[in-house]
Amino acid sequence: MNSFIEKRDFFKGNDIEKIVKEFGTPLYVYNEDILRKRMSEVAGIITKYPYKANYSMKANSNIEILKIAREENVNCDAMSEGEIRLLLKAGFTPDQIFFVPNNIDANEMQYAIDNGIMISLDSIDQINLYGSLNPGSKCALRINPGVGAGHHEKVVTAGKNTKFAIAEEDIDEAKRVADSYGLKICGINQHVGSLYMTPDPFLNAIDQFLRIARKFKDLEFIDFGGGFGIPYHKLEDEEPFDIFRLSIEWTKRLDEFVKSYGSTPLFKSEPGRYCVAEGGVLLGRVNAVKYNGDHKYVGTDVGMNVLMRPVLYDSWHDIEIISDGKVVKGMKEEATITGNICESGDVLCKDRPMPMIKDNDLICVLDAGAYGYSMCSSYNMRLRPAEVMICSDGSYRLIRRRETFDDIFNTFV
Ligand code: LLP
Repeated sequence: MNSFIEKRDFFKGNDIEKIVKEFGTPLYVYNEDILRKRMSEVAGIITKYPYKANYSMKANSNIEILKIAREENVNCDAMSEGEIRLLLKAGFTPDQIFFVPNNIDANEMQYAIDNGIMISLDSIDQINLYGSLNPGSKCALRINPGVGAGHHEKVVTAGKNTKFAIAEEDIDEAKRVADSYGLKICGINQHVGSLYMTPDPFLNAIDQFLRIARKFKDLEFIDFGGGFGIPYHKLEDEEPFDIFRLSIEWTKRLDEFVKSYGSTPLFKSEPGRYCVAEGGVLLGRVNAVKYNGDHKYVGTDVGMNVLMRPVLYDSWHDIEIISDGKVVKGMKEEATITGNICESGDVLCKDRPMPMIKDNDLICVLDAGAYGYSMCSSYNMRLRPAEVMICSDGSYRLIRRRETFDDIFNTFV
């Protein structure tokens, strides 16, 4: 078995135990080089036409990571007022933010309007609300391309079974309602879902979406969404997502479209996971090892409150074991690695072949940069962890302190 953290020199020669001694566990650690590389890759997928990648910040909203996105020439999507506020704080200008909410109330919509941020509306009711608040303005519509994709039914966001977007058959009605408020539909967006490992589902959706786009005149932008996968089984050499093929095939489709549409809109994407997943790992401490019958249980401080993905979607994360600062090699026995939350389902991996794991070892959960910290909670009154950046110059620094009990208790009135 390979070691990703050794191969990529993820910690850039820094002593892992020293970092952990300084900041404690569980601890999210990011690698600036990897983050910058992935951000710059998505920024350059389309070069022949006007194109902009919008980083979908729900994947990881640490302000230092948002600043990296900005420096790498990537704009951002926001899903809520909170995300808009943080993007403005990170230095993005309103025109660099695309608001893609669902089911919001008048106050939240008004916040975006007051800040001059382009909004995408994903139902007729939301068009009515927006039209009444901001008549005669510009907006975008989120349209369901009719085909979805994703690693789990919970993250498929298009097709027949989803709460998202306006169905193709409702486009005429949506236009009529927009018209009644003097709204100009200047863009359309889609998002098929999250995590597919080949470009094909996305390319299929592009075909559908470009067909649908022709139903709108003079679009200023067409946003195709995100969902590009990353290899979560990298220790077994899973192939990465082929962003090069995506670029070629996508451009071909745009060639066809531009030839006959009459104008060239700005094309956009909305990747989240691809930008940040591989640039983050989660370190945890083994606090107890025991056998129940034939099963080895490794008890750590990485509870489901710290990384929800395995529990919520049965997601796989590769895990490396670090003993005395060194990666432990060789598969020795099956182990079930658990957290410290009072639920039987609080399991990171079940009966997985692992190296020998001992009490006080560290676990290093790979590909934790996306939907890791951003989905943390304080369930069981556990504190959200700290986050550390391994910088390009080889130094490291704290980019978010661990939550304190006061942080939590201060919300009680
Ligand atoms: N655009 C929209 C409108 C979205 O809803 C999403 C993700 C994205 C872009 C970015 O998708 P990405 O490129 O990251 O796949 N918590 C789940 C993933 C949920 C994704 C929800 N929407 C997970 O941990 O797998």
